[in-house]
Amino acid sequence: MARNKFDVDETLEQEFNWSYYKRLAEYIKPYRARLFKVLTIILLANTAGMLGPYFSKIAIDNVIPNQDFSLLIKISLIFLVSLFVIGWCMRYRIIAITELGQDVLKDMRASIFVHLQHLPFSYFDNRPHGKILIRVVNYINTLSDLLSNGLINLISDLFNVVITFAFMIWINPKLTLYSLALLPILFLIVMIIKKEQRKAFQRLSNKQSNLNAYIHESISGIKVTQSFAREQENLTIFNDVSDEYRRSWMSAAKIQFLLWPGVQNISVITTALIYFVAIRQVGVEVSTGTLIAFLSYINNFWDPVINIGNFYNSLITATAYLERIFETIDEKPDIVDAPEAIELPLIQGKVDFKSVSFRYEAGKNILNDVSFHIEAGESVALVGPTGAGKTTIINLLSRFYDVNEGAVLIDDYDVRDVTLNSLRSQMGVMLQDTFIFSGTIIDNILYGKLDATEAEVIAAAKVVHAHDFIINLKDGYHTQVEERGSTLSSGQRQLISFARALLADPKILILDEATSSIDTKTEAYLQKGLQELLKGRTSFIIAHRLSTIVNSDKIFYIDNGQIIEAGNHQTLLNKKGKYYQLYQSQYNLLQA
Ligand SMILES: Nc1ncnc2c1ncn2[C@@H]1O[C@H](COP(=O)(O)OP(=O)(O)OP(=O)(O)O)[C@@H](O)[C@H]1O
Ligand SMILES: [Mg+2]
Repeated sequence: MARNKFDVDETLEQEFNWSYYKRLAEYIKPYRARLFKVLTIILLANTAGMLGPYFSKIAIDNVIPNQDFSLLIKISLIFLVSLFVIGWCMRYRIIAITELGQDVLKDMRASIFVHLQHLPFSYFDNRPHGKILIRVVNYINTLSDLLSNGLINLISDLFNVVITFAFMIWINPKLTLYSLALLPILFLIVMIIKKEQRKAFQRLSNKQSNLNAYIHESISGIKVTQSFAREQENLTIFNDVSDEYRRSWMSAAKIQFLLWPGVQNISVITTALIYFVAIRQVGVEVSTGTLIAFLSYINNFWDPVINIGNFYNSLITATAYLERIFETIDEKPDIVDAPEAIELPLIQGKVDFKSVSFRYEAGKNILNDVSFHIEAGESVALVGPTGAGKTTIINLLSRFYDVNEGAVLIDDYDVRDVTLNSLRSQMGVMLQDTFIFSGTIIDNILYGKLDATEAEVIAAAKVVHAHDFIINLKDGYHTQVEERGSTLSSGQRQLISFARALLADPKILILDEATSSIDTKTEAYLQKGLQELLKGRTSFIIAHRLSTIVNSDKIFYIDNGQIIEAGNHQTLLNKKGKYYQLYQSQYNLLQA
């Protein structure tokens, strides 16, 4: 089958890494008191469960020959009590363990989500969002099995093996030795399939992730797909990716189920061996009761061994997922608070770039020695060809990246010396593609200042001229909008983002204007809204609309990572340089 570009696997770790489990243990640690309690209960239940065969041995060897009915009543009563104890313990165990497992998973989910919130833009730019999603949701859920059932069952099974073994030795050491004869063969089988199994499950998690990424992308891009009538092609790709997943699943399953028949066969052969050895000695060295009790214990012995084998399987599966989860948690945010970072006090809005050079990748400067000074309250328009470095300049201002040389100062504070939170909370950034969250219009405006009142929201919307269109929506301010605000026009989305920014009341405003042309009426609205928004603030606007540019206090013409012209509209026109040309071409376009 042809591999397609969506079937891209993430790199696999080669060695089985126990450190993942040490880290998993860190998540369990806060719950160790509860874990200890559960373990005690399990120990109690297991010990009580072991008494059964021993009582039947006493019944056969002592009660029947001696007709000792008072002994029978005694052991029956003890047996009955032990059954009640087991029943109660089982119930407690199931509830307590499920709860414990889910609590640990909730903590893990939180730590991965919190971490994701702080990762740099580049992290999200460089990988499909579907692959990130699957880590937070599915991979963590897969661990649920390991934690809720696997881990606790393992401990319970280990108890069982040890206790059963103790009973067996106590009853008959010689038979016990016979029953262990085939154990080394079991270890051999485990060793052989271990490596293959691990690889198979890593492959499985990869294919699962690819499928998820493709589905996610298809849903996000559904409009483009339908516009270009690409449904059939997408289905083909989907089938390929989905089939890869099915194959990897089957090959993992085949390896996984090798273990079980192995254990099963060994247990049957061992039991036969015990019959063979013991029956010939019944009455000589071994009593009938001992034989019957011993055979029960043998069964008790192999059940947990099979379970431990199964646990080993889920451990291997989980390792593949844990790898991905911890990889995400270990991803270092590029930009973090300096150790001695201070809170940026309430700012005026003065901005300085001091000989700033910056590159995204080594060897290719995107900004070259850029310097400028902006007084508080000034509006700046950045213009210039695509790829010139305009967005890069504003990215440095909110410290989404750090400069390579020079410094960015706000009110004379180097942005690297203050906390990110105090810096960014004083800046209003409006990106080209306004993001609307699912919720009501009012929720979306409140995003700028969570504790604002409804009256404040409406006032803000009125100032930026968003009020008129909002009250004409079905439920006015309480109209429900879906993720991305797809039921709104792009002009309307932008007006909402203006209201959001105004409510937040930042001293520095950054706007990466959308290039898309909008109708003149909306344009006029946006323009009025923007003018209101800019009052009393320092603003950086990557401008495409002439009206915005003309009114700015300063205009920077950026080309090739440098400011090649600076001044207000009139001085730049008089200069008859690049800006003049740009203005002429746009102006002519408008006239045409
Ligand atoms: N995350 C990134 N990693 C590597 N290179 C990047 C990254 N972002 C931008 N660049 C490069 O940096 C240069 C400047 O990009 P920038 O986004 O600042 O341009 P711009 O002036 O905003 O252009 P436009 O008007 O098209 O938005 C471009 O050559 C671009 O390819
Ligand atoms: Mg840009």
